[in-house]
Amino acid sequence: MRTFSDRALAIQPTGVRKMFDLAGDDVISFGLGEPDFQPPPVAIEAFHQAMLDGRNKYTTTAGLPELRRKIAESWSSYQTDMDEQNVCITMSGTNALLNLFLTLVNPGDNVLLPEPYFPLYGPDVSIAGGKARYYPCLFDNEFIPSVEDLEHLVDENTVAILYNFPSNPTGGTLDESQRDELLDFAQRHNLWLISDEVYDRIVFDGPHVSFMGTGYERVLLVNSFSKTFAMTGWRMGYIISTNLEAMQQIIKMQYYITACSTDAMQYGILTAMNQASEYPDVLAKEFKQRCDLIVERLNAMPGVECHKPKGAIYVFPRVTVPNMTSEDIAMELLKDGVLCSPGSAFGPSGEGHLRFAYTISQEDITRGMDKVEATLRRLQSQ
Ligand SMILES: Cc1ncc(COP(=O)(O)O)c(C=O)c1O
Repeated sequence: MRTFSDRALAIQPTGVRKMFDLAGDDVISFGLGEPDFQPPPVAIEAFHQAMLDGRNKYTTTAGLPELRRKIAESWSSYQTDMDEQNVCITMSGTNALLNLFLTLVNPGDNVLLPEPYFPLYGPDVSIAGGKARYYPCLFDNEFIPSVEDLEHLVDENTVAILYNFPSNPTGGTLDESQRDELLDFAQRHNLWLISDEVYDRIVFDGPHVSFMGTGYERVLLVNSFSKTFAMTGWRMGYIISTNLEAMQQIIKMQYYITACSTDAMQYGILTAMNQASEYPDVLAKEFKQRCDLIVERLNAMPGVECHKPKGAIYVFPRVTVPNMTSEDIAMELLKDGVLCSPGSAFGPSGEGHLRFAYTISQEDITRGMDKVEATLRRLQSQ
């Protein structure tokens, strides 16, 4: 008897959740990567008011035109001349990613994905019937991929490449010349370029370097309100592109995924963008201080080397304890009251690393790092 689809059987729960599910309530959690803030109050009020005003209906599939126009405008320093037709609101970045793979990938196609990775990419490609091919983003190269590695992976069945900067889990960010090299690779091979820029507003040194505005007509940008407005539970994101032919296909696909996004919530987000536009910068300022603190602490510990990220909300230090895997170390830390993610949960190149999300207060980071230091000293001396 056939039970479940090959598609369902081929995907596994992620390692990040595995640790989280083992943790009790009393741990200091550097686990999931969820900002410890609430959305701007004006957004919550506008969301509430919109429901009271009867905005409880289906909207057009691509979303509220005013919100789509606002989003297009928010990218105008990168790309002028975009308007509502260039934007499809989705129910999260997660939804946007699945939409794109379903829209672009046929069975037998392959997609180039970063590794260490945000754990949804590979399973999404597999759900769409394609094969993931992973390109390494290594510590020794500040987590930036090399074009040489990409050239070894690409073939005539490669339809797309996904870039994610600032990166989850590594915190890696691009400068303009690195961006141009990666763009040139995608252009030379005529690939769809999916750019996951959900951390675009959480950058610490200078403006975010985007693939938007580069002139390549196959760029499809994924974004989310989850991190920038601290509304992970709202599940709102979008796809934006100058390619209107692609947008038509994407919007058609979105209809079959969710029909449309939540009506009233889109008013909440519009209000956040209009009336609390500085909010992401306030968060980014706090994240930068936390980042400085955690990097300094980690680099003072035995067996630990940590780059200082220029964006996102994660550090991905190399942590070496003889004869222990990253999962062994993460388990020891959990026993001592600290939750983090083993690097191996993000792919084979993550082995030898731990991921700490600095989504807790500076006091908690300090308490957590005291514990990490004590555990590592104990493990190193065994
Ligand atoms: C790199 C990256 N892309 C996409 C997402 C999805 O965000 P959401 O589904 O909350 O919008 C996340 C969430 O952690 C992420 O880290």
